Amino acid sequence: MHQKVVTDLWLKRIARISAWALLVCVVVLIFSGWGITQTGVIYQITFGLMDRRLADAVHRATNIPLALFFLSHVLINIRLNLKNIKRHYINWLINGILIAVGLYIMWLVVYMEYFRLGG
Ligand code: HEM
Repeated sequence: MHQKVVTDLWLKRIARISAWALLVCVVVLIFSGWGITQTGVIYQITFGLMDRRLADAVHRATNIPLALFFLSHVLINIRLNLKNIKRHYINWLINGILIAVGLYIMWLVVYMEYFRLGG
């Protein structure tokens, strides 16, 4: 029982850290996106620090950390909110499915970002 409490505590911590990191990624994604479409405005409010090329690079680089933090935050919160079933093998099955879904989506994002350049 004690081990499960410690695991849940750590999972909750990771889900919360991911939540705040995810929020930062969303803000960076929106601003860098405006840096591509509204370059003049973002160039001015960043005192000339962010031009379109940098905005584009930042926008593309944000996708993978955003996906990682989103998946960690959502899948861990889904797991923590799912009731624990008495039969251990069903809990392992649920954990396995959530981890498989997370790994598959993460692989898809990495594949799109690094291996399918230009469609
Ligand atoms: C871009 C999307 C999202 C952002 C930026 C986000 C951000 C956050 C933040 C900042 C918190 C507070 C963390 C804290 O208490 O320290 C939070 C809590 C939470 N979020 Fe999200 N979230 C997002 C999407 C989701 C989704 C899609 C779900 C559900 C599947 C979800 C489920 C939860 C739950 C259950 C909590 C409460 C966790 C707790 O009490 O520790 N979030 N989220």
